[in-house]
Amino acid sequence: MLRLASCSSLLLLLKAVVGLPWFQSIGAVLVFYLGSGGWKFMKVFYKTIGRDVRGAFTLVRVKLQVKKHLREKNTVPIIFKECVRRHPNKTALIFEGTGASWTFKELDEFSNAVANFLYAEGFRSGDVIALFMENCNEYVGFWLGMAKMGVEAALINFNLRLDALEHCFSVSNSKAVIFGQEMSQAMTDVYAMMGKSVRLYCFGDCDRSAIPPSTEFIAPLLQSASRLPPKDPGRSFTDKLFYIYTSGTTGLPKAAIVVHSRYFRMAALVHYGFGMRSDDVIYDCLPLYHSAGNIVGMGQCILLGLTVVIKKKFSASRFWDDCAKYNCTIVQYIGEICRYLLNQPVREAESKHRVRMALGNGLRPAIWKEFMSRFRIPQIAEFYGATECNCSLGNFDNNVGSCGFNSRILPFVYPIRLMKVNEETMELIRSPDGICIPCQPGEPGQLVGRIIQSDPLRRFDGYVNESATNKKIAKNVFKHGDMAYLSGDVLVMDELGYMYFRDRTGDTFRWKGENVSTTEVEGILSKLLQQADVVVYGVEVPGTEGRAGMAAIADPDHKSDLEKFVKDLKKSLPGYAHPVFLRLLPEVNKTGTYKFQKTDMRKEGFDPSLVKDALYVLDSQQGKYIPLDDAVYQRIQSGKLKL
Ligand SMILES: *[C@@H]1O[C@H](CO)[C@@H](O)[C@H](O)[C@H]1NC(C)=O
Ligand SMILES: *[C@@H]1O[C@H](CO)[C@@H](O)[C@H](O)[C@H]1NC(C)=O
Ligand SMILES: *[C@@H]1O[C@H](CO)[C@@H](O)[C@H](O)[C@H]1NC(C)=O
Ligand SMILES: *[C@@H]1O[C@H](CO)[C@@H](O)[C@H](O)[C@H]1NC(C)=O
Ligand SMILES: *[C@@H]1O[C@H](CO)[C@@H](O)[C@H](O)[C@H]1NC(C)=O
Ligand SMILES: *[C@@H]1O[C@H](CO)[C@@H](O)[C@H](O)[C@H]1NC(C)=O
Repeated sequence: MLRLASCSSLLLLLKAVVGLPWFQSIGAVLVFYLGSGGWKFMKVFYKTIGRDVRGAFTLVRVKLQVKKHLREKNTVPIIFKECVRRHPNKTALIFEGTGASWTFKELDEFSNAVANFLYAEGFRSGDVIALFMENCNEYVGFWLGMAKMGVEAALINFNLRLDALEHCFSVSNSKAVIFGQEMSQAMTDVYAMMGKSVRLYCFGDCDRSAIPPSTEFIAPLLQSASRLPPKDPGRSFTDKLFYIYTSGTTGLPKAAIVVHSRYFRMAALVHYGFGMRSDDVIYDCLPLYHSAGNIVGMGQCILLGLTVVIKKKFSASRFWDDCAKYNCTIVQYIGEICRYLLNQPVREAESKHRVRMALGNGLRPAIWKEFMSRFRIPQIAEFYGATECNCSLGNFDNNVGSCGFNSRILPFVYPIRLMKVNEETMELIRSPDGICIPCQPGEPGQLVGRIIQSDPLRRFDGYVNESATNKKIAKNVFKHGDMAYLSGDVLVMDELGYMYFRDRTGDTFRWKGENVSTTEVEGILSKLLQQADVVVYGVEVPGTEGRAGMAAIADPDHKSDLEKFVKDLKKSLPGYAHPVFLRLLPEVNKTGTYKFQKTDMRKEGFDPSLVKDALYVLDSQQGKYIPLDDAVYQRIQSGKLKL
C-alpha cells in the first residue's frame, strides 16, 4: 500500500517535472518491467523508489523556485536582499584568518559601497571587472557589489602568473582589476604585458613602490562611498553574474559563464538535495574563484542565509581545530583534501567537532569509509557537476562510493544518460542510424546531458570562447535533431542507478590487454605508501602494445622502501596494474583545487635525460625495482629488458 502511494506520487511528480502524459510514463515503466523480468524490476523499484521520490521532490522544488524568480525578474542580489531583511544581525561570514565576522547587514552594506563606488567611477551594467585576490570576506563583498550594479566579475585564480594571468584578463575583456595586496608582485609582473587602459585597484596594505604606478587604493575610497542600496540595474535571472575559469587539463584556462539562475540552481540543489538546515555553519576552505567554493559553498550564505566560515587556504593540520572553534556542521572538500586529512596524525579536535556532513567531490572510494569512521562524519554529500555543465548529480542518500544517481524506474525524468564511448578518444559510439547508444548497468560510458535551451534549469551557457563551447556539444545524441552537453567524464551505473566516477578523460590505459584505471591504482598505491601523493599514468614503450603504467610518488624524505612496496603490490593488485616505472619526486604538482597535474609528467615519460627525479623500472625477472639510468633506458628502448 505504501509503495503504491509512493508510486502514484512519483508519477504526479514526474508529470510536474517533465510534463509527460501519464500513459507515456506508465508505458516506460512497463517497458522496463517486461524487459527486465518482473522480479528484478520489483527489487530495483523497492530499493530505489524512496530515493527517486526524494530526488524528484528536490528537482521540482528548485524548478518551481527558478520559475518564480524568472517571473519576478529576481537576481542573486535581490534574493540576497531578502536574506538580509529576514535576519540582518545573523552572522553571514567569518574569515578565519583574522576572525573578522560580518553580519548579513554588514555584508550588504559593504557590497552597496562597492556598487556605489564603481558606479561613480564610471562603470556600468555589462562591464567586466577582474577580481584577483585570496579568500576573505571582502572577496564576496566585491563580486556581490559588482552584481548589484550589473557589473560582471571575472574571478581569477590567484595562483596564475604572467601569460595565463594576462590571458584571463584579456579573454574576459576586463576594464579593471581589483587585486589584493598579496598579489602585488604578480600584478606588477603581468602589468607589462597588459593593455594600459585597464584600471587597477589595490585592496589592502599595498606598498606604493611595489605596484604599477597608476594603481588606486580602493579601501579608503570605499570608506567614503554611500552604503545605501544602489539603483537597480534591471538585470534578469538569465543574465551573467560572473565568470569562472575552468582549468582544463591542457592549455590556457577557459572562461565559463555563470548566470544568476545557474548560481541559484547549483546552490539550491545542493541545499535541498542534501537536506541542509538554516542553522548549519559551513566551513569553506576552497578557493573562492572556483565554483565549489563560491557557488556550492558561498551560495548557501548569499541565497539561503547560512553562516559560512571562510578559510584563506586549506590547512590539513588546522582543519578540525577550525571546525571545532566555529561550530561548523558542514565541511567542504575537493580533490585530495580528504586524503591529506587522513594523512595527519590523530588529533584531539578531530573527534571534538560537530560536523555532520562533508560536501564536495572527488572523495576516492578507497578511503571513503575510513574517512567517515575516523572523523565521525555521518554523511558524505558527494556531488558531480562542472561549472559549465548542467548535468549535475548528487549522492543524496549517503551511498558509499557513488557521486549520484539517476532513476532506473523513470530514467527520463532527468535527461542525463551514460552513452557508449571510445575511452581513448572520448568519441561517442553511434548505432547504424547515427544515434548514441545508452549504456546498460555495469558498462562505462560518457555522461551526457540533453540540451533544452528554453528551460533555464537545463541551459548550457557555455564558454566565452565560442569554439570551446562547440567542442562540448554533440548533435543527434538521444534522438535525431537534438543536442547534448558532453561532460568528458566516464562513469559507470549499477543496477540501482547509482553512478560511480570512473576516470577523467584518457585516464584509463591498456596494458597487457587489460584496462587499467589510474584512479583505482592511485588509490591503492597511496594506501600502501602511508597516503603519500601518488599519480599514475600510462607511458608508451617502443615495441609494446598499449601503455605501461608509471607512478609518480611524492617522497620528499627518500624513505620509500621499494622492496616492501613490491611485496605489498603483489598482494594488492593484479600484475598488469603494477606500475612498470616509478618516479620519486619531492612533491607532486597540484592545481588550485587540489587535483594532480599529470600532463607534463606523462609527456616527460621515463627518459632519464628529461627527468631529473629518481627513476625506477620493475625488472620482471628479478621481481624488483631497479634504478633506471641511461644504460637501462637503452635496454628498454631496444627491447632487451623485458617489462
Ligand atoms: C539588529 O541589531 C540592531 C542593533 O544592534 C537592532 O537595533 C535591531 O533591532 C536588530 N534587528 C533585528 C531584526 O534583530
Ligand atoms: C560554539 O558553541 C558553543 C556552545 O554552544 C558556544 O559557547 C560558542 O560561542 C560557539 N562558538 C561560535 C564561534 O559560535
Ligand atoms: C544540459 O544543458 C542543456 C543545454 O541547455 C540542456 O538542454 C539539458 O537539458 C541539460 N541537461 C541537464 C541534465 O540538465
Ligand atoms: C578558442 O578556443 C580555440 C580552441 O579551443 C582556440 O584555438 C582559440 O585560440 C580560442 N580563442 C580565444 C580567443 O581564446
Ligand atoms: C577495455 O576497454 C575497451 C574500450 O574501452 C573495451 O572494448 C574492452 O573490452 C575492455 N577490456 C577489458 C579486458 O575490460
Ligand atoms: C611543477 O611545477 C613547476 C612550476 O610550474 C615546474 O617547474 C615543474 O617542472 C613541475 N614539476 C613537474 C614534475 O611537473
